[in-house]
Amino acid sequence: MANTILVGAQWGDEGKGKIIDFLTREADLVVRTQGGNNAGHTIVHGAEKYVLSLIPSGVLHPRKMCLLGNGVVIDPISLVGEMDGLAARGISVSPENLLVSDRAHVVLPYHRVIDAALEKQKKGRIGTTKRGIGPAYGDKIARTGLRMIDLAKAATVAERVRAAVIGANRLLKQLDAAPLKPAEVVEAYCAAADRLRPHITDTVAYLHEAMRRNRRILFEGAQGTYLDIDHGTYPYVTSSSTTAGGACTGSGVPPNRIDVIYGVMKAYTTRVGGGPFPTEDNALSDSLHGMGREFGAVTGRARRCGWFDAVSTSGAVRINGIDRIAITNLDGLDLQPVVRICTHYDLDGERLDHVPADADDLARCRPVFVEMPGWKKSTEDVRRFADLPRNAQRYLKKLAAVCGAPIQLISVGPGRHQTFTA
Ligand code: GDP
Ligand code: IMO
Ligand code: MG
Repeated sequence: MANTILVGAQWGDEGKGKIIDFLTREADLVVRTQGGNNAGHTIVHGAEKYVLSLIPSGVLHPRKMCLLGNGVVIDPISLVGEMDGLAARGISVSPENLLVSDRAHVVLPYHRVIDAALEKQKKGRIGTTKRGIGPAYGDKIARTGLRMIDLAKAATVAERVRAAVIGANRLLKQLDAAPLKPAEVVEAYCAAADRLRPHITDTVAYLHEAMRRNRRILFEGAQGTYLDIDHGTYPYVTSSSTTAGGACTGSGVPPNRIDVIYGVMKAYTTRVGGGPFPTEDNALSDSLHGMGREFGAVTGRARRCGWFDAVSTSGAVRINGIDRIAITNLDGLDLQPVVRICTHYDLDGERLDHVPADADDLARCRPVFVEMPGWKKSTEDVRRFADLPRNAQRYLKKLAAVCGAPIQLISVGPGRHQTFTA
Protein backbone atom coordinates (compact mmCIF):
# COMPACT_ATOMS: atom_id res chain seq x y z
CA MET A 1 0.00 0.00 0.00
CA ALA A 2 1.19 3.49 -0.82
CA ASN A 3 0.62 6.58 1.36
CA THR A 4 -3.14 6.73 1.76
CA ILE A 5 -5.55 9.33 3.07
CA LEU A 6 -8.92 8.07 4.26
CA VAL A 7 -11.71 10.59 4.77
CA GLY A 8 -15.39 10.48 5.60
CA ALA A 9 -17.45 11.64 2.62
CA GLN A 10 -20.69 12.46 4.47
CA TRP A 11 -21.39 13.86 7.96
CA GLY A 12 -19.12 11.56 9.98
CA ASP A 13 -19.67 8.07 11.39
CA GLU A 14 -19.32 6.52 7.95
CA GLY A 15 -17.42 3.54 9.36
CA LYS A 16 -13.94 5.03 8.99
CA GLY A 17 -12.58 3.16 12.04
CA LYS A 18 -13.65 -0.17 10.60
CA ILE A 19 -12.07 0.51 7.20
CA ILE A 20 -8.88 1.89 8.80
CA ASP A 21 -8.63 -1.34 10.80
CA PHE A 22 -8.95 -3.29 7.52
CA LEU A 23 -6.35 -1.16 5.69
CA THR A 24 -3.88 -1.05 8.59
CA ARG A 25 -2.66 -4.54 7.66
CA GLU A 26 -0.88 -2.95 4.69
CA ALA A 27 0.40 0.16 6.51
CA ASP A 28 3.34 0.81 8.82
CA LEU A 29 2.05 4.00 10.42
CA VAL A 30 -1.46 5.27 11.13
CA VAL A 31 -1.83 9.03 11.67
CA ARG A 32 -4.66 11.21 12.95
CA THR A 33 -4.32 14.74 11.60
CA GLN A 34 -7.34 16.72 12.80
CA GLY A 35 -10.22 16.74 15.25
CA GLY A 36 -9.96 15.47 18.78
CA ASN A 37 -11.98 13.32 21.13
CA ASN A 38 -15.17 14.40 19.37
CA ALA A 39 -14.46 11.41 17.11
CA GLY A 40 -15.71 7.93 17.93
CA HIS A 41 -14.35 5.19 15.70
CA THR A 42 -15.77 1.72 16.27
CA ILE A 43 -13.92 -1.49 15.59
CA VAL A 44 -15.39 -4.91 16.20
CA HIS A 45 -13.15 -7.97 16.51
CA GLY A 46 -15.26 -11.03 17.26
CA ALA A 47 -17.02 -10.38 20.56
CA GLU A 48 -14.78 -7.40 21.37
CA LYS A 49 -15.89 -3.88 20.52
CA TYR A 50 -13.51 -0.91 20.75
CA VAL A 51 -14.47 2.73 20.42
CA LEU A 52 -11.45 4.96 19.83
CA SER A 53 -11.65 8.73 20.17
CA LEU A 54 -8.13 10.09 19.88
CA ILE A 55 -5.87 7.10 19.45
CA PRO A 56 -5.64 5.99 15.81
CA SER A 57 -7.56 2.83 14.98
CA GLY A 58 -4.29 1.16 13.93
CA VAL A 59 -3.42 0.67 17.61
CA LEU A 60 -5.26 -2.66 17.64
CA HIS A 61 -2.62 -4.12 15.33
CA PRO A 62 0.72 -5.04 16.88
CA ARG A 63 3.89 -3.41 15.55
CA LYS A 64 2.16 -0.45 13.91
CA MET A 65 3.19 3.06 14.90
CA CYS A 66 0.29 5.41 15.63
CA LEU A 67 0.72 9.16 15.61
CA LEU A 68 -1.34 12.16 16.65
CA GLY A 69 -0.26 14.86 14.22
CA ASN A 70 0.12 18.59 14.73
CA GLY A 71 -3.41 19.28 13.46
CA VAL A 72 -5.13 17.32 16.23
CA VAL A 73 -6.43 18.97 19.42
CA ILE A 74 -5.69 16.83 22.45
CA ASP A 75 -7.49 16.60 25.75
CA PRO A 76 -4.64 15.05 27.76
CA ILE A 77 -6.90 13.69 30.50
CA SER A 78 -9.07 11.98 27.92
CA LEU A 79 -6.02 10.62 26.07
CA VAL A 80 -4.55 9.11 29.24
CA GLY A 81 -7.98 7.61 30.02
CA GLU A 82 -8.11 6.05 26.57
CA MET A 83 -4.59 4.62 26.96
CA ASP A 84 -5.53 3.12 30.34
CA GLY A 85 -8.78 1.73 28.93
CA LEU A 86 -6.86 -0.08 26.19
CA ALA A 87 -4.21 -1.34 28.65
CA ALA A 88 -6.98 -2.79 30.84
CA ARG A 89 -8.05 -4.80 27.76
CA GLY A 90 -4.55 -6.09 27.10
CA ILE A 91 -3.51 -3.57 24.45
CA SER A 92 -0.44 -1.79 25.66
CA VAL A 93 0.16 1.77 24.55
CA SER A 94 3.73 3.02 24.90
CA PRO A 95 6.07 5.33 22.99
CA GLU A 96 6.77 2.20 20.89
CA ASN A 97 3.33 2.49 19.29
CA LEU A 98 2.00 5.98 20.05
CA LEU A 99 3.67 9.32 19.40
CA VAL A 100 2.11 12.72 19.90
CA SER A 101 3.06 15.90 18.05
CA ASP A 102 4.74 18.61 20.09
CA ARG A 103 2.81 21.11 17.97
CA ALA A 104 -0.67 19.71 18.63
CA HIS A 105 -2.88 22.04 20.67
CA VAL A 106 -4.20 21.18 24.12
CA VAL A 107 -7.89 21.09 25.06
CA LEU A 108 -8.35 22.58 28.54
CA PRO A 109 -11.37 22.19 30.82
CA TYR A 110 -12.54 25.74 30.11
CA HIS A 111 -12.82 24.88 26.42
CA ARG A 112 -15.49 22.35 27.35
CA VAL A 113 -17.29 24.86 29.59
CA ILE A 114 -17.24 27.50 26.83
CA ASP A 115 -18.42 24.92 24.26
CA ALA A 116 -21.45 24.06 26.43
CA ALA A 117 -22.18 27.69 27.34
CA LEU A 118 -22.09 28.86 23.70
CA GLU A 119 -24.36 26.01 22.63
CA LYS A 120 -26.89 27.04 25.27
CA GLN A 121 -26.93 30.61 23.98
CA LYS A 122 -27.34 29.72 20.30
CA LYS A 123 -30.70 29.64 18.54
CA GLY A 124 -29.85 27.11 15.84
CA ARG A 125 -27.86 24.66 17.93
CA ILE A 126 -24.99 22.82 16.31
CA GLY A 127 -25.36 19.97 18.77
CA THR A 128 -21.64 19.75 19.46
CA THR A 129 -20.11 16.85 21.34
CA LYS A 130 -19.26 19.35 24.13
CA ARG A 131 -15.66 18.17 24.12
CA GLY A 132 -14.34 21.73 23.80
CA ILE A 133 -13.16 21.21 20.24
CA GLY A 134 -14.39 24.50 18.75
CA PRO A 135 -13.01 26.71 21.56
CA ALA A 136 -9.66 24.86 21.49
CA TYR A 137 -9.29 25.47 17.74
CA GLY A 138 -10.47 29.03 18.38
CA ASP A 139 -7.52 29.58 20.74
CA LYS A 140 -5.20 27.99 18.18
CA ILE A 141 -6.29 30.41 15.46
CA ALA A 142 -6.25 33.34 17.91
CA ARG A 143 -2.67 32.31 18.80
CA THR A 144 -3.50 31.99 22.47
CA GLY A 145 -3.48 28.18 22.81
CA LEU A 146 -1.27 25.84 24.80
CA ARG A 147 0.50 23.12 22.84
CA MET A 148 1.85 19.72 23.73
CA ILE A 149 5.37 21.21 23.75
CA ASP A 150 4.19 23.33 26.70
CA LEU A 151 3.11 20.18 28.54
CA ALA A 152 6.43 18.54 27.69
CA LYS A 153 8.39 21.19 29.58
CA ALA A 154 8.25 19.96 33.17
CA ALA A 155 9.76 23.11 34.65
CA THR A 156 7.14 25.50 33.29
CA VAL A 157 3.99 23.45 32.66
CA ALA A 158 2.32 24.28 36.00
CA GLU A 159 2.78 28.01 35.49
CA ARG A 160 1.53 27.90 31.88
CA VAL A 161 -1.61 25.98 32.84
CA ARG A 162 -2.30 28.19 35.87
CA ALA A 163 -1.98 31.40 33.81
CA ALA A 164 -4.27 29.96 31.11
CA VAL A 165 -6.97 29.04 33.65
CA ILE A 166 -6.83 32.43 35.37
CA GLY A 167 -7.16 34.14 31.98
CA ALA A 168 -10.06 31.90 30.95
CA ASN A 169 -11.91 32.48 34.24
CA ARG A 170 -12.47 36.10 33.20
CA LEU A 171 -14.21 34.86 30.05
CA LEU A 172 -16.23 32.26 31.98
CA LYS A 173 -17.57 35.06 34.19
CA GLN A 174 -18.86 36.91 31.12
CA LEU A 175 -20.59 33.69 30.05
CA ASP A 176 -22.18 33.28 33.53
CA ALA A 177 -20.28 30.02 33.96
CA ALA A 178 -18.66 28.97 37.25
CA PRO A 179 -14.91 29.69 37.39
CA LEU A 180 -12.45 26.80 37.45
CA LYS A 181 -10.08 26.23 40.37
CA PRO A 182 -6.57 26.80 38.94
CA ALA A 183 -4.89 24.45 41.45
CA GLU A 184 -7.17 21.54 40.53
CA VAL A 185 -6.58 21.97 36.81
CA VAL A 186 -2.83 22.35 37.32
CA GLU A 187 -2.68 19.14 39.36
CA ALA A 188 -4.65 17.11 36.81
CA TYR A 189 -2.78 18.50 33.80
CA CYS A 190 0.66 18.08 35.40
CA ALA A 191 -0.15 14.44 36.14
CA ALA A 192 -1.32 13.89 32.54
CA ALA A 193 1.76 15.74 31.23
CA ASP A 194 4.00 13.38 33.22
CA ARG A 195 2.27 10.41 31.61
CA LEU A 196 2.38 11.81 28.07
CA ARG A 197 5.87 13.36 28.10
CA PRO A 198 7.63 10.23 26.72
CA HIS A 199 5.20 10.21 23.78
CA ILE A 200 5.62 13.87 22.80
CA THR A 201 7.98 14.43 19.89
CA ASP A 202 8.50 16.19 16.57
CA THR A 203 6.17 13.96 14.56
CA VAL A 204 6.88 15.91 11.36
CA ALA A 205 10.55 14.90 11.52
CA TYR A 206 9.50 11.34 12.45
CA LEU A 207 7.15 11.05 9.45
CA HIS A 208 9.74 12.38 7.01
CA GLU A 209 12.32 9.89 8.29
CA ALA A 210 9.70 7.12 7.94
CA MET A 211 9.04 8.17 4.33
CA ARG A 212 12.77 8.19 3.63
CA ARG A 213 12.74 4.54 4.72
CA ASN A 214 9.72 3.84 2.44
CA ARG A 215 7.34 3.21 5.31
CA ARG A 216 3.67 3.26 4.29
CA ILE A 217 1.48 5.85 5.98
CA LEU A 218 -2.27 5.67 6.46
CA PHE A 219 -3.97 8.94 7.40
CA GLU A 220 -7.11 8.37 9.47
CA GLY A 221 -9.68 11.09 8.89
CA ALA A 222 -12.12 12.05 11.60
CA GLN A 223 -15.59 13.54 11.14
CA GLY A 224 -16.63 13.92 7.49
CA THR A 225 -16.51 16.20 4.45
CA TYR A 226 -19.75 18.05 5.28
CA LEU A 227 -18.52 18.79 8.81
CA ASP A 228 -15.41 20.48 7.36
CA ILE A 229 -14.90 24.05 8.58
CA ASP A 230 -14.60 25.31 4.95
CA HIS A 231 -16.52 22.81 2.86
CA GLY A 232 -19.19 21.67 5.30
CA THR A 233 -22.70 22.93 5.95
CA TYR A 234 -21.49 25.99 7.88
CA PRO A 235 -22.15 26.84 10.69
CA TYR A 236 -23.34 23.27 11.40
CA VAL A 237 -19.81 21.90 11.17
CA THR A 238 -16.88 20.97 13.34
CA SER A 239 -13.88 23.30 13.70
CA SER A 240 -11.21 21.44 11.71
CA SER A 241 -10.30 20.62 8.10
CA THR A 242 -11.81 17.19 7.73
CA THR A 243 -11.10 16.96 4.00
CA ALA A 244 -8.02 15.46 2.34
CA GLY A 245 -6.01 18.70 2.43
CA GLY A 246 -6.28 18.68 6.23
CA ALA A 247 -4.29 15.45 6.33
CA CYS A 248 -1.31 17.28 4.82
CA THR A 249 -1.47 20.44 6.94
CA GLY A 250 -2.26 18.33 10.00
CA SER A 251 0.80 16.12 9.58
CA GLY A 252 3.48 18.05 7.70
CA VAL A 253 3.43 15.45 4.90
CA PRO A 254 3.22 17.31 1.58
CA PRO A 255 0.49 16.65 -1.03
CA ASN A 256 2.95 15.21 -3.55
CA ARG A 257 3.71 12.32 -1.15
CA ILE A 258 0.08 11.13 -1.16
CA ASP A 259 -0.72 8.23 -3.48
CA VAL A 260 -4.29 7.15 -2.79
CA ILE A 261 -7.37 8.83 -1.34
CA TYR A 262 -10.17 6.70 0.05
CA GLY A 263 -13.61 8.13 0.75
CA VAL A 264 -15.80 6.19 3.14
CA MET A 265 -19.56 6.40 2.58
CA LYS A 266 -22.45 4.65 4.21
CA ALA A 267 -24.88 3.05 1.75
CA TYR A 268 -27.35 5.59 3.16
CA THR A 269 -26.71 8.82 5.10
CA THR A 270 -26.58 9.71 8.80
CA ARG A 271 -26.00 12.91 10.70
CA VAL A 272 -25.68 13.59 14.45
CA GLY A 273 -26.50 17.02 15.80
CA GLY A 274 -28.18 19.99 14.13
CA GLY A 275 -28.08 21.29 10.57
CA PRO A 276 -29.70 20.73 7.20
CA PHE A 277 -30.02 17.20 5.87
CA PRO A 278 -31.98 17.08 2.58
CA THR A 279 -32.46 13.30 2.31
CA GLU A 280 -33.48 12.78 5.96
CA ASP A 281 -36.25 10.21 6.23
CA ASN A 282 -38.06 9.40 9.46
CA ALA A 283 -39.27 5.98 8.31
CA LEU A 284 -35.71 4.94 7.42
CA SER A 285 -34.47 6.32 10.78
CA ASP A 286 -37.14 4.30 12.62
CA SER A 287 -36.26 1.17 10.69
CA LEU A 288 -32.50 1.48 11.40
CA HIS A 289 -33.02 2.42 15.06
CA GLY A 290 -35.41 -0.52 15.33
CA MET A 291 -32.54 -2.76 14.15
CA GLY A 292 -30.51 -1.33 17.09
CA ARG A 293 -28.30 0.67 14.75
CA GLU A 294 -27.22 4.28 14.39
CA PHE A 295 -26.67 5.39 17.94
CA GLY A 296 -23.62 7.64 18.42
CA ALA A 297 -20.35 5.97 19.44
CA VAL A 298 -19.32 8.87 21.71
CA THR A 299 -22.51 10.47 22.97
CA GLY A 300 -25.03 7.64 22.46
CA ARG A 301 -27.31 10.09 20.64
CA ALA A 302 -29.65 8.60 18.03
CA ARG A 303 -28.31 9.53 14.62
CA ARG A 304 -30.63 11.12 12.09
CA CYS A 305 -30.89 8.88 9.01
CA GLY A 306 -31.74 9.42 5.36
CA TRP A 307 -31.21 8.12 1.84
CA PHE A 308 -27.91 8.23 -0.03
CA ASP A 309 -27.23 11.77 -1.20
CA ALA A 310 -25.18 11.77 -4.39
CA VAL A 311 -25.21 15.58 -4.64
CA SER A 312 -23.08 15.81 -1.51
CA THR A 313 -21.03 12.62 -2.01
CA SER A 314 -20.11 13.50 -5.62
CA GLY A 315 -19.00 16.88 -4.24
CA ALA A 316 -16.93 15.03 -1.65
CA VAL A 317 -15.26 13.02 -4.44
CA ARG A 318 -14.25 16.29 -6.11
CA ILE A 319 -13.17 18.18 -2.97
CA ASN A 320 -11.07 15.33 -1.59
CA GLY A 321 -9.89 13.82 -4.87
CA ILE A 322 -11.35 10.48 -3.80
CA ASP A 323 -10.11 7.77 -6.13
CA ARG A 324 -11.47 4.80 -4.20
CA ILE A 325 -14.79 4.54 -2.41
CA ALA A 326 -15.44 2.24 0.55
CA ILE A 327 -19.17 1.59 1.00
CA THR A 328 -20.16 0.53 4.50
CA ASN A 329 -23.40 -0.61 6.09
CA LEU A 330 -24.80 -2.03 2.88
CA ASP A 331 -26.58 -4.53 5.14
CA GLY A 332 -28.49 -1.62 6.71
CA LEU A 333 -30.67 -1.53 3.59
CA ASP A 334 -31.34 -5.29 3.53
CA LEU A 335 -34.96 -4.90 4.68
CA GLN A 336 -35.96 -2.05 2.37
CA PRO A 337 -38.39 -2.88 -0.43
CA VAL A 338 -37.27 0.23 -2.32
CA VAL A 339 -33.95 2.10 -2.10
CA ARG A 340 -33.48 5.72 -3.08
CA ILE A 341 -30.54 7.80 -4.32
CA CYS A 342 -30.78 11.57 -4.41
CA THR A 343 -29.33 12.71 -7.75
CA HIS A 344 -30.05 16.45 -7.45
CA TYR A 345 -31.86 19.01 -5.35
CA ASP A 346 -34.78 21.24 -6.21
CA LEU A 347 -34.51 24.72 -4.71
CA ASP A 348 -37.59 26.82 -5.47
CA GLY A 349 -38.03 25.12 -8.83
CA GLU A 350 -34.37 25.34 -9.79
CA ARG A 351 -32.22 22.21 -10.26
CA LEU A 352 -29.09 22.14 -8.09
CA ASP A 353 -26.22 19.71 -8.67
CA HIS A 354 -24.02 21.18 -5.93
CA VAL A 355 -24.47 21.72 -2.21
CA PRO A 356 -25.35 25.41 -1.77
CA ALA A 357 -23.18 27.58 0.52
CA ASP A 358 -26.07 28.81 2.66
CA ALA A 359 -27.36 26.37 5.27
CA ASP A 360 -30.84 27.94 5.05
CA ASP A 361 -30.91 27.33 1.29
CA LEU A 362 -29.79 23.73 1.85
CA ALA A 363 -32.55 23.28 4.41
CA ARG A 364 -35.08 24.33 1.73
CA CYS A 365 -33.68 21.95 -0.90
CA ARG A 366 -36.00 19.13 -1.85
CA PRO A 367 -34.20 15.92 -2.77
CA VAL A 368 -34.96 14.42 -6.18
CA PHE A 369 -34.56 10.65 -6.05
CA VAL A 370 -34.07 7.77 -8.40
CA GLU A 371 -35.77 4.74 -6.91
CA MET A 372 -34.57 1.19 -7.32
CA PRO A 373 -36.02 -2.09 -6.11
CA GLY A 374 -34.46 -3.33 -2.86
CA TRP A 375 -33.03 -6.83 -2.40
CA LYS A 376 -34.86 -7.88 0.77
CA LYS A 377 -32.22 -10.44 1.62
CA SER A 378 -29.43 -10.50 4.19
CA THR A 379 -26.03 -9.51 2.82
CA GLU A 380 -24.17 -10.04 6.12
CA ASP A 381 -22.56 -13.30 5.07
CA VAL A 382 -21.62 -12.25 1.56
CA ARG A 383 -17.86 -12.01 0.89
CA ARG A 384 -17.74 -11.47 -2.88
CA PHE A 385 -19.38 -8.87 -5.10
CA ALA A 386 -20.68 -11.61 -7.41
CA ASP A 387 -22.52 -13.23 -4.47
CA LEU A 388 -24.47 -10.07 -3.59
CA PRO A 389 -28.15 -10.10 -4.57
CA ARG A 390 -28.53 -8.74 -8.11
CA ASN A 391 -30.40 -5.62 -6.94
CA ALA A 392 -27.66 -4.83 -4.41
CA GLN A 393 -25.10 -5.10 -7.22
CA ARG A 394 -27.20 -2.72 -9.34
CA TYR A 395 -27.50 -0.30 -6.42
CA LEU A 396 -23.72 -0.24 -5.86
CA LYS A 397 -23.01 0.25 -9.56
CA LYS A 398 -25.41 3.17 -9.58
CA LEU A 399 -23.68 4.67 -6.49
CA ALA A 400 -20.29 4.53 -8.19
CA ALA A 401 -21.71 6.11 -11.35
CA VAL A 402 -23.43 9.01 -9.58
CA CYS A 403 -20.43 9.64 -7.28
CA GLY A 404 -17.93 9.57 -10.15
CA ALA A 405 -15.41 7.19 -8.56
CA PRO A 406 -15.00 3.41 -8.35
CA ILE A 407 -16.03 1.37 -5.33
CA GLN A 408 -13.03 -0.51 -3.97
CA LEU A 409 -14.32 -1.93 -0.68
CA ILE A 410 -17.72 -3.09 0.51
CA SER A 411 -18.68 -3.66 4.13
CA VAL A 412 -21.70 -5.73 5.14
CA GLY A 413 -21.35 -5.85 8.93
CA PRO A 414 -19.37 -4.39 11.81
CA GLY A 415 -16.90 -7.31 12.04
CA ARG A 416 -13.39 -7.27 10.67
CA HIS A 417 -14.12 -10.18 8.34
CA GLN A 418 -17.25 -8.52 6.89
CA THR A 419 -15.30 -6.43 4.38
CA PHE A 420 -14.39 -7.38 0.82
CA THR A 421 -12.90 -5.94 -2.31
CA ALA A 422 -15.44 -5.00 -4.97
P1 GDP B 1 -16.59 6.24 12.23
O1 GDP B 1 -16.71 7.38 13.18
O2 GDP B 1 -16.61 6.69 10.80
O3 GDP B 1 -15.44 5.33 12.53
O4 GDP B 1 -17.93 5.39 12.41
P2 GDP B 1 -18.61 4.97 13.82
O5 GDP B 1 -17.80 3.91 14.43
O6 GDP B 1 -18.93 6.17 14.63
O7 GDP B 1 -20.01 4.46 13.30
C1 GDP B 1 -20.11 3.42 12.38
C2 GDP B 1 -20.96 2.32 13.00
O8 GDP B 1 -21.29 1.39 12.00
C3 GDP B 1 -20.23 1.52 14.07
O9 GDP B 1 -21.16 1.07 15.01
C4 GDP B 1 -19.63 0.35 13.29
O10 GDP B 1 -19.39 -0.78 14.09
C5 GDP B 1 -20.74 0.12 12.32
N1 GDP B 1 -20.37 -0.45 11.04
C6 GDP B 1 -19.34 -0.10 10.21
N2 GDP B 1 -19.46 -0.74 9.03
C7 GDP B 1 -20.58 -1.51 9.15
C8 GDP B 1 -21.27 -2.37 8.25
O11 GDP B 1 -20.88 -2.56 7.10
N3 GDP B 1 -22.41 -2.96 8.70
C9 GDP B 1 -22.88 -2.77 9.97
N4 GDP B 1 -23.98 -3.41 10.35
N5 GDP B 1 -22.26 -1.95 10.83
C10 GDP B 1 -21.14 -1.33 10.40
P1 IMO C 1 -16.37 10.70 13.72
O1 IMO C 1 -14.88 10.84 13.56
C1 IMO C 1 -20.29 12.54 13.57
C2 IMO C 1 -20.59 16.69 14.86
C3 IMO C 1 -21.34 17.00 16.15
C4 IMO C 1 -21.88 18.38 15.81
C5 IMO C 1 -20.74 19.00 15.01
C6 IMO C 1 -19.82 19.90 15.85
O2 IMO C 1 -16.76 9.68 14.72
O3 IMO C 1 -17.02 10.52 12.39
P2 IMO C 1 -17.94 19.37 17.65
O4 IMO C 1 -18.04 18.68 18.99
O5 IMO C 1 -16.97 18.74 16.71
O6 IMO C 1 -17.72 20.85 17.76
O7 IMO C 1 -19.43 19.21 17.02
O8 IMO C 1 -19.99 17.94 14.48
N1 IMO C 1 -19.49 15.71 15.00
C7 IMO C 1 -19.55 14.47 14.53
N2 IMO C 1 -20.57 13.79 13.95
N3 IMO C 1 -19.10 11.94 13.72
C8 IMO C 1 -18.06 12.61 14.29
O9 IMO C 1 -16.82 12.10 14.35
C9 IMO C 1 -18.28 13.92 14.76
N4 IMO C 1 -17.50 14.84 15.39
C10 IMO C 1 -18.26 15.94 15.51
O10 IMO C 1 -22.37 16.06 16.36
O11 IMO C 1 -22.99 18.26 14.95
MG1 MG D 1 -17.94 8.02 14.76
